[in-house]
Amino acid sequence: MYDRSAAYYDLIYRDLKDYRDEAAKIDALLQRLSPIPHRLLDAGCGTGEHARRLCRDHGYAVDGLDIEPEFASIAQTKNPSGSFRVGDMRDFDLKRSYDAILCLFSSIGYTETLQGLANAFTCFARHLPPGGWLVCEPWITPDAWRDGQVDSVTALDPKSGETITRTRMGETDGLVSVLKIDYDIEDDASFRQFSEIHRLGLFTREQMRSALEAAGFQVTWLPMGLQSDSLIVAQKMG
Ligand SMILES: C[S@@+](CC[C@H](N)C(=O)[O-])C[C@H]1O[C@@H](n2cnc3c(N)ncnc32)[C@H](O)[C@@H]1O
Repeated sequence: MYDRSAAYYDLIYRDLKDYRDEAAKIDALLQRLSPIPHRLLDAGCGTGEHARRLCRDHGYAVDGLDIEPEFASIAQTKNPSGSFRVGDMRDFDLKRSYDAILCLFSSIGYTETLQGLANAFTCFARHLPPGGWLVCEPWITPDAWRDGQVDSVTALDPKSGETITRTRMGETDGLVSVLKIDYDIEDDASFRQFSEIHRLGLFTREQMRSALEAAGFQVTWLPMGLQSDSLIVAQKMG
């Protein structure tokens, strides 16, 4: 999915996402929970930027899981004190538990189907003790999705001198949003292109709530998010 673009991820989001601010918001939220979590798993951790800030700036112990090996490797290099593994959030067993699991920046959408969503929440529940927490930043709901939207971002890599342009176009395939993502990589001497297709399930709030409840969570939707305006905070029941 991200196999060809992983190396450009941080560059692309450098000016689009403020991970330091987001980590501060996550910390403020975690500090309001009881018991206050300390050992965290970031599921769909990407390049480990939230983990890095949560560990360095706020003192959490953070591990990560990502389906893309290149991401797990980048995240591990940035976060030597944690363990960053390659794995599928719909089917994993890390043989340990955490105080809280984070699943941020729409990673949960990649579970794609209601069965995938249910499997991920069941796996999360298995890695939490009773009273443990899940903080999940959802993907777009079906009513908010608009077909045909296009966005484009260009970033300059100061090290290589390359310019990276990423253009995304969204459409739907049934209840799945399909992002066609084109990358143009250019420097003085060369130009190359590649494309990726990302498929993210469009889940309603009710579908997410009932999948969470079926996995044993009590669910609260906060009217605040990191980049969007909603965040799921769910506690595993005893
Ligand atoms: C939009 S990125 C978010 C990455 C990171 N959380 C962030 O905030 O930058 C979505 C991430 O989910 C990962 N992902 C997608 N499907 C997954 C799966 N089934 N299991 C684990 N990770 C997955 C992708 O590889 C990618 O790193």
